[in-house]
Amino acid sequence: MDSQFDSIVAAYEQSMNRLPFREHVEAYSLLKAIGSLTGLAVLDLGCGTGLYARRFRALGAKRVVGMDTSQSMIEYARRKEEQERHGITYVHHNATRSLDDGLAGAFDLVTSVYVLPYATSENDLAGMCATARQALSPRGAVRRDDPQPRLRHPPRLVPQLRHDAHHGPARRRRGHGPSDSAGRRPRDRRRRPPVVGPRP
Ligand SMILES: C[S@@+](CC[C@H](N)C(=O)[O-])C[C@H]1O[C@@H](n2cnc3c(N)ncnc32)[C@H](O)[C@@H]1O
Repeated sequence: MDSQFDSIVAAYEQSMNRLPFREHVEAYSLLKAIGSLTGLAVLDLGCGTGLYARRFRALGAKRVVGMDTSQSMIEYARRKEEQERHGITYVHHNATRSLDDGLAGAFDLVTSVYVLPYATSENDLAGMCATARQALSPRGAVRRDDPQPRLRHPPRLVPQLRHDAHHGPARRRRGHGPSDSAGRRPRDRRRRPPVVGPRP
C-alpha cells in the first residue's frame, strides 16, 4: 500500500538541518531522556529515512533496527546503509501488526518519533503500542516523542511506557476522544494510577 510519506523522503532527510527545532529541541530532549545508548538494542518504529537510527548507532547502540511502513522511506534508508555501513537493519513493516520472529522480545528500547499521531484509528494506535511492547525484552522501555504541532505548551516529550503497562491515552486534550467502556472521558482517566513511570 502507498504511504503518504513516499513522496517526501528527501524533505524528511533534510528536516533535521532545515528545521532547527528538530535538532535543538526534539533531538536534544529525546537523547537526553534516553541517556546512555551504549550496548542497547533499539527498535525505531516509524524510522523514516533512518535519521535517529543512525544517531543511535553513532551513540553506541549495539543493535539498531529501523521499521517503517513506507516502502520509499525504507528504500532510502537501505541505500544510505549500503553507502555508509552503520550496521543498521531496516524492516518494511506496518507497526500496527505483530512482529515477525526474531524481533519480538529482542529490544532494550523502542523509540517512535512523530509516528503515533499517524494512527488512523484507536485500533491502529493500540496495535502500534502492542507492537512496541512485543518488541521489548522484560526490562525494556518505550520512548515516544510527538511534540504538539503548534507548540502552545512546552512539548511533553517522551513519556515512558513500562513493559508491563497498557498503552497510554490516545488523545490528550480534554473533551476529545470517545468514552471508554465505563463511560469515562479522557479527563477522568487521568485520575487513574498512571501507567507511565520511570525506567526501572
Ligand atoms: C513524520 S515521519 C517521522 C520519521 C522519523 N521518525 C523521524 O523522526 O524523522 C512518520 C513516519 O512514520 C511512518 N509510519 C506511519 N505509520 C506507520 C506504521 N503504522 N508503521 C510503521 N511506520 C509508520 C511513516 O511512514 C513515516 O516514515
